[in-house]
Amino acid sequence: MAQIHFNFVAQTAPSNHVQASWAHPEDRQGAGLYSPQYWCDVARTLERGFFDGIFFADTLSTNTQNVEDAAEGGIPRIDPLMLVTLMSQVTRHLGLAVTLTTIGTPPFLAVRRLGTVDHLSGGRLAWNVVTSYHENDFAALGLERPEHDSRYDQADEYMDVAYRLWDAFPADAIIMDKAAGRYIDTAKIKPVHYNGKYYRCNSLPVMPCSPQGRPLIFQAGASGRGMRFAAQHADAVFALQPEVAMKSYIASTRAAAEEIGRPHPRVFFGIQPYVASTEAEAERQLETLKSRVALDQAVIRLGAILGRDFNDHDVDQPIETGETQASQGWMTAVGNWTKDRSPTLREMALDLAVSPMSPRIMGTPEHVADTLEKWWRDTGCYGFTFSPHVMPGSIDAFVDHVVPILQQRGLMRTEYAGTTYRENLLQQ
Ligand SMILES: Cc1cc2nc3c(=O)[nH]c(=O)nc-3n(C[C@H](O)[C@H](O)[C@H](O)COP(=O)(O)O)c2cc1C
Repeated sequence: MAQIHFNFVAQTAPSNHVQASWAHPEDRQGAGLYSPQYWCDVARTLERGFFDGIFFADTLSTNTQNVEDAAEGGIPRIDPLMLVTLMSQVTRHLGLAVTLTTIGTPPFLAVRRLGTVDHLSGGRLAWNVVTSYHENDFAALGLERPEHDSRYDQADEYMDVAYRLWDAFPADAIIMDKAAGRYIDTAKIKPVHYNGKYYRCNSLPVMPCSPQGRPLIFQAGASGRGMRFAAQHADAVFALQPEVAMKSYIASTRAAAEEIGRPHPRVFFGIQPYVASTEAEAERQLETLKSRVALDQAVIRLGAILGRDFNDHDVDQPIETGETQASQGWMTAVGNWTKDRSPTLREMALDLAVSPMSPRIMGTPEHVADTLEKWWRDTGCYGFTFSPHVMPGSIDAFVDHVVPILQQRGLMRTEYAGTTYRENLLQQ
């Protein structure tokens, strides 16, 4: 029987996706950011809860260039690739997904760095391939942001170089024949000569295939062009949609895959469970978070995601969705979110600040398990990506109280299939 898969989403910053969550009295991430102990405990708990993996969303830069606006915790932002290397040493099964943008790092270096950690973790690395949507990411590297679809054209080529490098060095090329003095069987190695429109690479490959072949690939682009990119390259897709739009989103990703003759993508929907003894208690947790959100910061954040400058927008007037050069996927998700109402800028920004378009599930462990089961059965999604509101309390509550219910129903694994991310993500 098929089972529900879970990944956990975090950021290597003081807060995860809930604005200023580090300031919550029970939250430990702000103080734990540089603590190997903090992150290793998080990894151990997720493995105890049989999650497929931990997924680090990441941007290079911040939503704002104004230092005053960074006061509440948009910085620091540490490098997730180094962090997951630590986590790999205290776990045996948990997958480790890092975001690495296709800007700034040549594909040769990306393959080398990701491959190193894939090896050091025994084949547990995943790469969330992003093309960067925010102008500040480009500005940080001294670059101009290309227009939306062209970023994906460049990324297609980036992936082509990566495939060449991955294919060029099979694992069985390593023979370690001491008598003959040959570490590798040279007949199995293919030099790479790639001269494309955007990228060039001329080299022997330096990174052999890992125990899972190559890192697993995640993608989250949700525009038409983004879905084509995901269908072409991704092992799994991370999506943010309100409940009403989940089914149609899955249909669109399937259609995009069929159009180019690729298998249907495995879609994980973002969720934000508030597990409590009663629904009222869950609501109280939400109100605590809401009361801490600074509206001006929330507006900047919404503007960054949608590629809009809301400086001159009255916060009590509705916002309109439409064209953007930033994230068209997020713009559509906001449109789906607001279909039956016209939220003001204030309402939308505050809602996004506490629930980054991951539907909230509020209440008892049974209610959370029932809702997840229903959405999974109704939509045909592969699983969910869990976004916490307080760290590490959100994970503890879910692992201790919801996971056992799903296991009893036969909807979640009680053993990992293997030791690589690929084996566990594909486990049925
Ligand atoms: C669920 C989700 C997670 C994302 N995570 C990141 C991220 O960690 N870093 C990043 O730079 N972009 C992230 N993005 C942005 C996308 O990768 C993409 O660049 C952006 O949505 C624009 O593409 P689109 O118009 O095709 O959606 C995310 C998008 C979604 C929907």
